[in-house]
Order: sequence, then C-alpha cells, then structure tokens
Amino acid sequence: MKEENINKQNQGTGLNRRKFITTAGVLATGLMVTGLTGCSNETVANLEKDSEQNKDSSQVSAVAATKAETAASIPWKYNKLDVELVRKRGYEYYFKGGCCYTAARALLDTLTESSGGQWSTIPRDMFLYGAGGAYSWGTLCGALNGALAVINLASAKHKELGNELIGWYTKNPFPSNKHESYCKVKNQITTISDSPLCHVSVSKWVSAAGARVNEKEKKDRCAKLSGDTAAKAAELLNQALENKVVLAYKVSDEYSHCMTCHQGKDSLRDDEQGKMDCLYCHGDHTMTGKKK
Ligand code: HEC
Ligand code: HEC
Repeated sequence: MKEENINKQNQGTGLNRRKFITTAGVLATGLMVTGLTGCSNETVANLEKDSEQNKDSSQVSAVAATKAETAASIPWKYNKLDVELVRKRGYEYYFKGGCCYTAARALLDTLTESSGGQWSTIPRDMFLYGAGGAYSWGTLCGALNGALAVINLASAKHKELGNELIGWYTKNPFPSNKHESYCKVKNQITTISDSPLCHVSVSKWVSAAGARVNEKEKKDRCAKLSGDTAAKAAELLNQALENKVVLAYKVSDEYSHCMTCHQGKDSLRDDEQGKMDCLYCHGDHTMTGKKK
C-alpha cells in the first residue's frame, strides 16, 4: 500500500499518520510499518484500542519511573572539599554562566569528584537564572544564591552555615587577591558591600573602581567574588563535617537595637523582615536629637 493510502485509510478512524506510526512502534517494536501493509479499518481500530490499554500500562510505568527517580532526601553525604580548587573553578565557570551558575557548579563538580553519587545529578544549568542577582534584577548576589543552594543540599546545619555565609559576604573586602596567578585583570581595588544585594555590591565596587558594569574589569571582579564565595561555602562545609563551625558573623551594634522593636513576634512592632543593615536605607529615629 502506498503512503497516501495509509493516510487516507487512517483519516476515517481519526488516527493520523504520526500517531499511527507511534502506536505501531509502541505495540510492535521491530515490526516494520510495511509489515502492516494492507491493514483494514478493523486492524486500525484494534490498534487504537490496544493503544488505550498501552497508555494505561505506560502510565503505570511512568508512576514507577517517578518513584524510582525521586531524589534521595537531604542532606546528601559529602567528603571534604578542596577549598582552593573550588575558588579557582568559581572564577573560571563564571565566564560560562555567570555568578550563580559558577558558585553552584564549582561546588557541585568538586563534590561530584570527592563524594560522587547524587552530586552529578543536579543540572548545572538550573543556576543560570541567578546571574546579576536573578535575571539582572540586582537582588540576592548570585554567588551567594548558588552557594546557598548547595549548602542546603549538603548540610543539616544549612541555616547556620547559610546565615554565616551571607553575613561574611557583607563584611568581606571583594575581590580577594587569591586569583592573581590566573585571572585576566590583576590587582583590583576591593570594596565591602555591607549588603547581600547584587545591586549594592556591584555598584559600590564599580563606583570605587571607576569601572563600568559591562566591561571586563567588572566581570573579572565578579568572577573572583564568585570564586571567593564558593570557597567560603566549601570552608564552612568542611568545618561542619568536623563539627567545628566557626560562626563569626554578628549583627552590628549600630542596628541590632532596631530589631528589638521591629523584628520577632515578641517585639513591640513586629513589622520588619530581614537582617540587612537598616541604616543603609533608613535613618535612626531613636537617635533623633542625639549625636550619632
Ligand atoms: C524602642 C523601640 C524602637 C527602636 C529601638 C527602633 N524603633 Fe523604629 N519605630 C518604633 C515605633 C514605636 C515606630 C512607630 C511610631 C513612630 O513612627 O515613631 C517606629 C517606626 C519606624 C519606621 C517607620 C517609619 C517612621 O519613621 O514612622 C522605621 C522605618 C523604623 N522605625 C526604623 C527603625 C530603625 C532603622 C531602627 C534602628 C536604627 C529603629 N527603627 C529602632 C520603635 C522603635
Ligand atoms: C535595602 C534597603 C533597606 C534595608 C536594608 C532596610 N529597609 Fe526597611 N524599608 C525599605 C524600604 C524601601 C521600605 C518601604 C518604604 C516605604 O514604602 O515607605 C522599608 C520599610 C520599612 C518599614 C515600614 C515603614 C513604614 O513606612 O511604616 C520598617 C518599620 C522598616 N523598613 C524597618 C527596617 C529595619 C528595622 C531594618 C533593619 C533590620 C530595615 N528596615 C532595613 C528599605 C530597607
């Protein structure tokens, strides 16, 4: 039978050629389409019926597949990380997918090598969204975002470690000089962001460096910052492994008193969410009339 004839015949049963071939393929793997030459409408109807049944069984197997593919619950086991390797990778991968991607991938690739198993199953490309503080919105620094996701996967103490990483980031002079042997732009000026926001971190540095956001100096700065942030995450994960986590970050006295009235269910107002430095954006109304 010629192809047009098959098409014509199938039209009457609502089975188009593509579905016909798919169905035939599912039911009779190995049976050539030519093997069905001359099939009657009845055969086609049976194929449809069978395909309904087949759909049921394929649904069952889809459920089974879903079950089998459910990720193991976290935290996932890991072995000690090579902090300096993470730092270098965190610099390098930046040029492939940005800050969030590189921080996550530097950690995940190193974990895959040191700890194998599940660590290879996380698609690295899922971290592309975080670049520029999430699609260039300048919110949470992508290097933090990517590193925090991996910390959450790896450690039961992710809250403490994550909080420490963010706090450390806000007070660390970026970029470090630990990339000098391989970076493109050497000896860059450093700034302390006092904020976990990409916007603040980048614009403060760009202004201090007399640079421009879309030039290579800024890209190199953010690549180094990403490496440094991923390396710090690796360091914290290593500490957690040995139960020796050093929680050094403390909310500054300058604004910790703001929290006593504005944050927490027992506070006077309980009308604020966040740990960022209040004075960056607000005045201190409790100091009115007093010398600061
Ligand atoms: C002793 C409690 C207390 C402390 C400490 C405190 N606040 Fe308030 N804050 C209040 C109260 C009560 C109000 C609402 C009434 C008012 O406007 O005075 C308020 C209002 C505000 C508002 C709303 C805007 C406004 O001015 O009405 C902001 C913003 C604010 N506080 C920020 C801060 C910051 C930043 C700090 C720390 C530097 C701080 N607060 C410390 C009690 C406090
Ligand atoms: C990155 C900047 C930023 C930081 C940091 C920040 N805030 Fe705000 N906050 C804002 C903005 C913007 C608003 C909205 C102001 C508006 O629309 O009136 C706001 C609103 C508030 C309000 C409600 C204001 C009102 O009009 O009643 C309070 C209270 C407040 N912030 C307290 C705090 C405290 C306490 C901290 C520190 C723990 C803090 N904020 C840190 C930017 C910030």
